[in-house]
Amino acid sequence: MNEIVIKQNLAPNVWLMGIYSPQVAKKSNPGQFVILRVAENGERIPLTIADFDREKGVVYIIFQVVGKTTSLLSQLNIGDRIIDFVGPLGMPYEHNPEDKNYLFVAGGLGIPAIFSKVKMLHSQGKNIDIIIGGRSKENIFFEDELKKYCNNLYISTNDGSYGKKGFVTDILNELLESGKRYDEIFAVGPVPMMKAVVDITKKYQIKTLVSLNPIMVDGTGMCGGCRVKIGNEVKFACVDGPIFDGFEVDFDGLMKRNSYYQDLENISYREHKC
Ligand code: FES
Repeated sequence: MNEIVIKQNLAPNVWLMGIYSPQVAKKSNPGQFVILRVAENGERIPLTIADFDREKGVVYIIFQVVGKTTSLLSQLNIGDRIIDFVGPLGMPYEHNPEDKNYLFVAGGLGIPAIFSKVKMLHSQGKNIDIIIGGRSKENIFFEDELKKYCNNLYISTNDGSYGKKGFVTDILNELLESGKRYDEIFAVGPVPMMKAVVDITKKYQIKTLVSLNPIMVDGTGMCGGCRVKIGNEVKFACVDGPIFDGFEVDFDGLMKRNSYYQDLENISYREHKC
């Protein structure tokens, strides 16, 4: 159980892993996540389920090496086992069956997070446009996989090394200014990116969902670590989310909370590398 059966390097420091976990695969749905632990005394980290294969019992995760735990995870190989692999957690992605036209906006590690949702909507005959973006060409991945399931795929890179130079929001602005309309927009990626997407879509009053990535500990609604302000209410992203109405999210509060432990994380990562 929890054996790594696939390991693939997608981009510098970005890895795809297939984990054999039939119980998690059987119950997984788009939008959900897992929490895993790599070392006996290690921290627990949440990772979006990028895809799942119920028949093979495999759950696919994609992660970037940004700290000690993801570094340890990246050092595991096919045949190794992950100590704890808990899921699926969170509420699945739900959509209005009447809606026909969808736009996905994904930045950085948000790119694989849209994959299973796009595949599901494609299987239902929906019209799907996708905008993906990253710092430069090497940060763009999953392009070919996503192309199979959408009508149009737009790409931006901050340095202009691939696709349009600029940000995903530049393309979003262009599409909406040219008269393109969607029943629903789904954004996932860095918090400032999701905030910028919502600032634009609010002007057009297009329903916008975002997938949040706050600090999580238990993933079961017990610790309160993942609390986010949605409208006038406090919600727990692990059990009430991670997908919320973007117009209601307190992004500034989320950014502040996400930075609380940054110094400790940096120290831990530095010591691990020494
Ligand atoms: Fe503890 Fe959500 S991670 S309440």
